[in-house]
Amino acid sequence: MERYRNIIPEFKRFKKVIHSPQPYDIRINTIKANVPEIKSLLTQTGFSFEQRDWNNEFLKVDFEPGKSILHWIGKYHVQESVSGIPPLALNPIPYDRVLDMCAAPGSKTSQMSVLMENTGEILANDISKNRIRSLLSNVSRLGCVNVQVLERDGRNIPEKSKFDRVLVDAPCSAEGNARKNNDLLNGADTETITRISELQTSLLKKAFRLCKTGGTVVYSTCTFAPEENEIVVSKFLNHGKLEKPDLNLPHSLGLSEWNDKKLGKELENCIRVYPHQLDSGGIFVAKFKKMS
Ligand SMILES: C[S@@+](CC[C@H](N)C(=O)[O-])C[C@H]1O[C@@H](n2cnc3c(N)ncnc32)[C@H](O)[C@@H]1O
Repeated sequence: MERYRNIIPEFKRFKKVIHSPQPYDIRINTIKANVPEIKSLLTQTGFSFEQRDWNNEFLKVDFEPGKSILHWIGKYHVQESVSGIPPLALNPIPYDRVLDMCAAPGSKTSQMSVLMENTGEILANDISKNRIRSLLSNVSRLGCVNVQVLERDGRNIPEKSKFDRVLVDAPCSAEGNARKNNDLLNGADTETITRISELQTSLLKKAFRLCKTGGTVVYSTCTFAPEENEIVVSKFLNHGKLEKPDLNLPHSLGLSEWNDKKLGKELENCIRVYPHQLDSGGIFVAKFKKMS
């Protein structure tokens, strides 16, 4: 991670936090429960939690949340807090038609279902049969009835009809998950980054083709590598206008240059969240309004 010393604020604190275990978070599933109900049930059971101050539905908890009956009956979903940011940036509304291009295991799909009040349509696509099994189990447990599932390479999704909003939560080198997987603490290798950034570019290109003019495309990764983030996004500045997601949480701006390469001031409309800013994993989010 040393190569990020000059871009990550409070680098010493970042390094300390990234070597510490990541807390669990849950997202209260308001299709099946409400926030006061779950807080009261957790308190009665003797579990402690802390409300995330930037979103009502996310709680940082001090127990293994996947083992509770409340999880199994779909009252909440175990979801990293930063994973909640891309759906909030995309901001789907009831009766939208949404494509979730890399959807499994469905944390963001099910969160978008809540934002859409379980109406409209989410086409949840993924290339992995195994991960689609988890997606199906999650959307069914959480009661999301507006989800259709597709198993395709995202680059080959048919262009028969277009979507109001498209989420590309892209496969990535996942450096932002280093608190959960210590193998990632030294950062990703160049070969992985190069290979994966080509796939990310193709997926984002397809996302623009599948989005209506005037619609919204959100691109996200859970890595710090600029080659997978701002450099991918910078190739699409003529496809859409970058807009800053309207979110009230601690973050850093996207990079307008990297390694002496000027990428453009517009890139500062992207957001980067580092683990020490939210006591979480890391995430990068870019939001485009598609031009004609
Ligand atoms: C970051 S994960 C998605 C997490 C998911 N959005 C969620 O919130 O639960 C990236 C996903 O991309 C999928 N993937 C990888 N290559 C793909 C491709 N060419 N087309 C579609 N999905 C792909 C992986 O199987 C993986 O499930």
